[in-house]
Amino acid sequence: MTSNLSPIDKAKYVAAKRAVDYVEDGMKVGLGTGSTAAWMVKCLGELVRDDGLNVTGVATSRRTAELAAQVGVPIVSLDEAKWLDLTIDGADEYDANLNLIKGGGGALLQEKIVATASDQMIVIADLSKQVDTLGAFPMPIEVIPFGWQTTKALVEETLVNLDVLGRSSSLRMNNDTPFVTDEGNFILDLHLRRIGNARQLSLVVNQIPGVVENGLFIDICDVVVIGNGDGSVEVRDINNGTVEHEQIDVLENDNLFVDIAD
Ligand code: 5RP
Repeated sequence: MTSNLSPIDKAKYVAAKRAVDYVEDGMKVGLGTGSTAAWMVKCLGELVRDDGLNVTGVATSRRTAELAAQVGVPIVSLDEAKWLDLTIDGADEYDANLNLIKGGGGALLQEKIVATASDQMIVIADLSKQVDTLGAFPMPIEVIPFGWQTTKALVEETLVNLDVLGRSSSLRMNNDTPFVTDEGNFILDLHLRRIGNARQLSLVVNQIPGVVENGLFIDICDVVVIGNGDGSVEVRDINNGTVEHEQIDVLENDNLFVDIAD
């Protein structure tokens, strides 16, 4: 029940609920990964079940695909869908230009491929994800396991010439073993503290052998829907230059609020 939701979960939920308003009948929609995106998948499932919305989803991770199946959102592969109308996803940080850090949930590679193959990307977030300058959140990069320590050393060396405050990196772990992505790769988290030139950093890091992709999303996001714990949302559209404020009706619905886990 919504009355039992923490303010942070309510913020994520109202952002997700507002974002699914963008989904129209017949659309092909990229489904992000993470706790905020999980709310969105549930909201979409409700529209499919209760309103008969006809939508085709492309999941950005196995866990999102599993959740979509549970809530009744039909899933196809990106190759079957080919191009998407819209992707809705969470983010770890967004700045005033709607550039992002993503990958806290380890799904950055599929997330970036799916978002880039979409006419529009909408990020759903709470205000804690807003930053003046990207980089306080460790920037993830996906690297292939072969020679990962050499790749890590090369990345740290490359950072010497870039506009960042920190240069250390750490291998993401899952208890005692390396975290493994859906594509069978490892994640290095770069502790940069401040990224002065995100576009340059993204280009340079992707040139290093062993790096598959980085978690910077530059010029990909079009709209951010920011949810608040009081049920209000702010919708910022970078293309239109508009900022709208709304209050979301939170309906008590047992089905939607059980088993939210990601
Ligand atoms: C997963 C991501 C997530 O979108 C990001 O980590 C935000 O997650 P959450 O909504 O749980 O805070 O990039 O790879």
